[in-house]
Amino acid sequence: MCGIVGYTGHREAYPVIIKGLKRLEYRGYDSSGVALLNNGQLKVFRKKGKVAELEESVIGKDLQSHIGIGHTRWATHGEPSDRNAHPHQSQSGELAMIHNGIIENYTQIKQELLSKGYHFKSDTDTEVLLNFIEDIKKNNDCGLEEALRIALKRVVGAYCILLISNDDPDTIIAARKGSPLVIGIGKGEHFLASDASPIIEYTKEVVYVNDYEIAIVRPDELILKNLGNEKQTPFITKLDMELAAIEKGGYDHFMLKEIHEQPEAIFDCLRGRLLTQTGQIKMAGIENNLDAFINAPRIIIVACGTSWHAGLIAEYLIEELCRIPVEVEYASEFRYRNPVIHKGDVIIAISQSGETADTLVALESAKEKGAFIFGVVNAVGSSIARLSHAGAYTHSGPEIGVASTKAFTGQLAVLTMMALKIGYAKGAIKQPRYLQLMQDLEAVPEKVREILQDTSHIQRMAAKYKDATDFLFLGRGYNFPVALEGALKLKEISYIHAEGYPAAEMKHGPIALVDEKLPVVFVATKDSYYQKIVSNVQEIRARKGKVIAVATAGDMVIPGMSDDVMFVPDADEAIAPMLSVIPLQLLSYYTGLAKGLDVDKPRNLAKSVTVE
Ligand code: M6R
Repeated sequence: MCGIVGYTGHREAYPVIIKGLKRLEYRGYDSSGVALLNNGQLKVFRKKGKVAELEESVIGKDLQSHIGIGHTRWATHGEPSDRNAHPHQSQSGELAMIHNGIIENYTQIKQELLSKGYHFKSDTDTEVLLNFIEDIKKNNDCGLEEALRIALKRVVGAYCILLISNDDPDTIIAARKGSPLVIGIGKGEHFLASDASPIIEYTKEVVYVNDYEIAIVRPDELILKNLGNEKQTPFITKLDMELAAIEKGGYDHFMLKEIHEQPEAIFDCLRGRLLTQTGQIKMAGIENNLDAFINAPRIIIVACGTSWHAGLIAEYLIEELCRIPVEVEYASEFRYRNPVIHKGDVIIAISQSGETADTLVALESAKEKGAFIFGVVNAVGSSIARLSHAGAYTHSGPEIGVASTKAFTGQLAVLTMMALKIGYAKGAIKQPRYLQLMQDLEAVPEKVREILQDTSHIQRMAAKYKDATDFLFLGRGYNFPVALEGALKLKEISYIHAEGYPAAEMKHGPIALVDEKLPVVFVATKDSYYQKIVSNVQEIRARKGKVIAVATAGDMVIPGMSDDVMFVPDADEAIAPMLSVIPLQLLSYYTGLAKGLDVDKPRNLAKSVTVE
């Protein structure tokens, strides 16, 4: 949530910052702003709405500067507006600051400042923190860095902040706890950002700042310190990412591009790991901890949103193939209900961004209780990846569209390999099925490519159903989480109310919603529940609901009972979700498009939810 960018060096800062903010817009787009420093003069420009609106509002303004900070906001404290937009300026006007995170004890600090005569121009926690820093600086007669350090010791919550001051013409001071910060190292210049996407164009050498670290960043110097004022050695990492991966590459939207990237993304995920010829699955994170998995009395999967749906599918996979009990938890609930964690329990955290605050905080507390944490993460070097004891990256490449698509199928590919590897090592799965599933998994990229070859019928269906006010998505077994995912995608992108349900559970309540206006999407591929789901389709038809089906190619029965069908190639039921979800991603994309909505930046959402 919220994207931040900073630059100090020999280039003009404004274009670097604006371009960076556009790349980070997936993190929030309620408002944006920049603060530029030139000859000791601080200039701040802020605007409600997307970055393009900020750009328009500064046409003709003097933007000359070689140092600056910029922010794109996902509102937490205070409505989206010009006055709540970042950067904020301190009361004296000397400091400007941007912030990603939430200061939980800001009301208390604000009261203290109000009693000292401070006034606030915004409703944000950020302005409170900024004036708190300024107040400490004044009262302690110390430098900005020291004031920041003192302030942060009082702060409860999460933050990544960038600060500039008009009496320090080329320095950005940054600090993080809980919200990400990457610093790009150039020649005589430094770039700061929430992730590497604004940086990749200029340098591939980056430093991931750790929690409780302060960075003092000048064109030729990067100093890292902890809150105890001790210098830390910056650990330089080389980015393994190309600029093309974060651009639209000829597609109208990132979401469509990412849907179409799935054959390659899944292939990349399997490459070098799934060795069908020798019957081996190579995953160092699992190999090095095989005993922990095999002997685990229980596996707990912790995730949010789409990643949680991948976790539900993993529950089916692991219980079937490894015979280990699995619980799947919403990270936000897991953290706060004081869960029982037994010795030996393994926690699998699933996250595309690796920065989701609910998941991160849940893991921190589980780690404190001694749990072994295994991360299934897409973003390399992200907070969850670093917090995990071991893990497996999904290698799906950067996912920019707010709706998660290729990250989901990447997660399923990793989780399937994990279940196969552990199950086989444990002896819970016999060799013929193990080898068969390996082959089925290897065939997935090609089958996804087949589904994506012609999507025009899905586009027509989207136009037909776009005015529906509600949708029901139903599935059984492995396809139940796919139904949940289909409903989530449609809600996010088209703003149509949609519910996902186990197909059989539907008759215990939601069936009351069914009438001739309700489209009901059945994820009804050929699996062990097939006959049962045929009956469920009949139950909907008997009540005049519109039936849309995801069916297996060659099936004659389900299509004969449906108003519209989207076919997917045949596959083992454990593998099928990677295929059956693709038409549902496309249905939501085309529905949003037909409704004229911004599918890459749906209202109220952000890609990376870094607040609890
Ligand atoms: O980055 P994460 O996988 O941890 O994100 C979890 C959810 O916020 C995310 O999946 C969200 O539900 C997506 N917008 C779904 O498309």
